[in-house]
Amino acid sequence: MVKQYKQPAGINHGAEERSHQNCFSTFPLQSKSMKYPSVFLFVLAATLVLETGCNEPAKIVLNPYEYTAQKRVTGFRGAVVSAHPLASKVGLMILQQGGNAIDAAIATQLALAVVYPGAGNIGGGGFMVAHLRDTGALAIDFREKAAAAATRDMYLDEQGDPVPRLSRMGHLSAGVPGTVAGLFASLKYAKLPFAQLIQPAIDLAEKGFVLTAAEAGSLNHTQEAFNQYNTSPTAFVNRAGWKAGDTLVQMELSETLKRIRDKGKEGFYEGETARQIVAEMNKGNGIISLNDLKNYEAVERKPKEFDYKGFRIISMPLPSSGGIILEQCLKMIENRDIEKMGFLSPRSVQLMTEVERRAFADRAVYMGDEDFVKVPVKTLTGEAYLKERMADFIPGKAGSSASVGAGNIIPESEETTHLSVADQWGNMAAVTTTLNDSYGSKTVVSGAGFLLNNEMDDFSIKPGVPNMYGAVGNQANAIEPGKRMLSSMTPTLVLHNSEPYLVLGTPGGTTIPTSVFQTLVDMIDFGLSPADAVNAPKFHHQWLPDELYIEKDFPPGIADSLKAMGYTLTQRNSIGRTEVIKIGKTKSGKGYIFEAVADKRGDDSAEAY
Ligand code: DON
Repeated sequence: MVKQYKQPAGINHGAEERSHQNCFSTFPLQSKSMKYPSVFLFVLAATLVLETGCNEPAKIVLNPYEYTAQKRVTGFRGAVVSAHPLASKVGLMILQQGGNAIDAAIATQLALAVVYPGAGNIGGGGFMVAHLRDTGALAIDFREKAAAAATRDMYLDEQGDPVPRLSRMGHLSAGVPGTVAGLFASLKYAKLPFAQLIQPAIDLAEKGFVLTAAEAGSLNHTQEAFNQYNTSPTAFVNRAGWKAGDTLVQMELSETLKRIRDKGKEGFYEGETARQIVAEMNKGNGIISLNDLKNYEAVERKPKEFDYKGFRIISMPLPSSGGIILEQCLKMIENRDIEKMGFLSPRSVQLMTEVERRAFADRAVYMGDEDFVKVPVKTLTGEAYLKERMADFIPGKAGSSASVGAGNIIPESEETTHLSVADQWGNMAAVTTTLNDSYGSKTVVSGAGFLLNNEMDDFSIKPGVPNMYGAVGNQANAIEPGKRMLSSMTPTLVLHNSEPYLVLGTPGGTTIPTSVFQTLVDMIDFGLSPADAVNAPKFHHQWLPDELYIEKDFPPGIADSLKAMGYTLTQRNSIGRTEVIKIGKTKSGKGYIFEAVADKRGDDSAEAY
């Protein structure tokens, strides 16, 4: 018997964990069409010609009342993949208008904040990893921060026990939002005026868009929590219940977006929006102050870069554990001939499971915000250390988290959504942002119309107490004022022979780095196409709990072999929603070919031209 993964009470992990997300699994993989009434039809974008892989021109019209999601598309001038068809189309429009990958990433992220309220956001935070033809790799950290009034034990009662839900629901669970600062920090690499990039999001909020079945179901599923954690009515609650084809209008959000358009970063972190956030805090024991908002800055960091079998991997450094975990996992398998073991064979899955176990043990013990704690990154990703970590690996026999633990370090001297964009100039951008849980804290800033994150739960609220993803931590990730909580988000780029090759990433909490790891190995080592790699059954081990999670379509025969090795298997509905763009050169060598693939697991949609 394979155990069923039980979601913690009161927590919805996002689309991939929802039972009603299956409404979409019946759509054909290549193309799915969702038709909605078009009574108030307005067309946001011009018609454009799409160059498909067969060179057949196809028209795309961005119409928020009738839209089509595509799972796989090829083009020659640029590509965008995101969690929502309308957001991907907005990104493509911006490329069409002469924008580069950064312009398209900004516009797509802003559109997601409107059409994908469960995770797309302006009240959360995230990371951008980009590679620009002219200036190379960069990483922008716009992760939320703990407010100045935050304290280490703020989620514990007098006995020192965690207060149920306090770090996960409502006002006190929110960190100081970083997304808007992140957008403006990336703007210096963009070409188009910000007003042009934000306008589609404003229009979508003001005029509305029709809900997909998945989004309608998800909003209904969260209705009780919205009612519990808000004192004012929110646009997200429809007492009669939402259904596919209903129009969601967000007037307050459109006003907030206009303030950001007109006043820039200050339109969010100061003035009316900031006052609305603080007023909301005062309604529910929240602690984010005007100063916290005014002082928030996004930070440009050095990306986590390394080589794997001739490919240059560029990913996110701390405060995300993602890039380090990815490097550890890939380096621990690099010399073990995994390609000969075969894709999804008991041997390859076991090897990948054991490296994931070891990387997550190190995450729990050593990783946190480097602005506050010393993290031995060089050692953790060093050849000798990783060789030693695998010394007790026994092929064909399950390891044990009780005996593996974190590695010995000699001190050195020293609800989420992902979008991928690539443009005709050879620029690439990978952005993963989150509210943490689906719809974050469930609290909407009254008058401002956007949801606040519940990212504080990503801190280790008490050593050894698991967060909502079951991840444990200790001192390195303890709460401190102004500190960023440790993340798993892994926006990642790959270069091959110094040329753009892959843009990828996914949501999924702690499963993010392991999904990115598996997608890369599936393509690089097993030679799978991007679509096959994205849609392949995923598995996940995170040290604690000592369980191997498998997706529901994981082959039963392989699961039996793993059980025979001694693994405890737990089935999950789905893991991640990976968005990949694979980039090649045209025959002449002068241009690029983009193959954009959106995950089958949600409403995700790919665009290219
Ligand atoms: O930063 C992190 O690692 C988490 N807050 C990400 C949450 C997430 O991926 C939720 N989506 N399914």
